[in-house]
Amino acid sequence: MDFDFTEFKQELEKRKQHIDSCLKLYLTREDAHPPIIHEAMHYAVFNGGKRLRPIMVLEGARLAGGNQANAVPIACALEMIHSYSLVHDDLPAMDNDELRRGKPTCHIVFGEANAILVGDALLTGAFAVMTEAAELPGVKLGNLIRVIRETAESAGSQGMVGGQVIDLESEGKNIDYDTLKTLHSLKTGKLFQVALRSGALICDINQEGLAAVDEYARNFGLAFQITDDILDISGNQELLGKPTGSDAKNGKTTYPGLLGLDKSREMASSCVEACIRSLQNFGSDADFLRQLAYFTLVRKN
Ligand code: IPE
Ligand code: IPE
Ligand code: MG
Ligand code: MG
Ligand code: MG
Repeated sequence: MDFDFTEFKQELEKRKQHIDSCLKLYLTREDAHPPIIHEAMHYAVFNGGKRLRPIMVLEGARLAGGNQANAVPIACALEMIHSYSLVHDDLPAMDNDELRRGKPTCHIVFGEANAILVGDALLTGAFAVMTEAAELPGVKLGNLIRVIRETAESAGSQGMVGGQVIDLESEGKNIDYDTLKTLHSLKTGKLFQVALRSGALICDINQEGLAAVDEYARNFGLAFQITDDILDISGNQELLGKPTGSDAKNGKTTYPGLLGLDKSREMASSCVEACIRSLQNFGSDADFLRQLAYFTLVRKN
């Protein structure tokens, strides 16, 4: 398959702008009362985020052959949850980082207490935003409830939060490959998985389609976190918009740390091949996702 990096970046930028305009509609206004929290929420959400999770929600809807507009509230909600996870991930008690999406981290600008509350407000607000889908013509309430439940589980103690706990517990320790894989699959994989599943589910995808979507998303999440670990070592901080060397600073076990850079790149490539294979029963509707999988291997941020 042809992959043109510049062309694909332009396509991503177009989609990012669409998601940004939708997020502006769903996030409580920046000048709402009390001002500090809303200003800080906007600071945490409207920045250099790639918006990959909401973009994936809409791709899930496309694969299901449904109306992408019906998946927009869910897409925005997932970006709110992801943005909250980054604000908390950067806190001194967690990764203690001072740069995110090219700007000083939320706690550096607004203080730790406000950064904790920004996370709380984005997470709870996300579930209110999801319920907006109930008003859209064609959305089945049963599907929406399933999506809300799966999102809560994927973000929670057996999903992203669970992964973050294992990540923190493992600092400064030698963990084995299986533990590392579980950690990555939970802290990063679960949100990607629920993103693609949600868009597909809200548009009534069939069982076979859902299994394919799952296979893609599990492999994508793993490839994405492996390349995140690689970029932490060999990336360019300016392009990345977050500090390099954060993992070493915190004594994290990472793919390149455990297996070396070459082997890690090989593993990321085989995950991407698995992503492509998982889409074999889809036609051109899946081309963007095929390209997105390749992009993960060559991304610079
Ligand atoms: C960063 O995610 C955190 C990980 C799970 C690796 P992204 O690389 O998608 O971050 P943004 O949203 O583009 O800033
Ligand atoms: C991201 O892991 C996990 C989250 C769920 C936020 P990292 O700690 O590696 O993410 P970055 O590198 O700070 O974006
Ligand atoms: Mg972290
Ligand atoms: Mg971090
Ligand atoms: Mg990282």
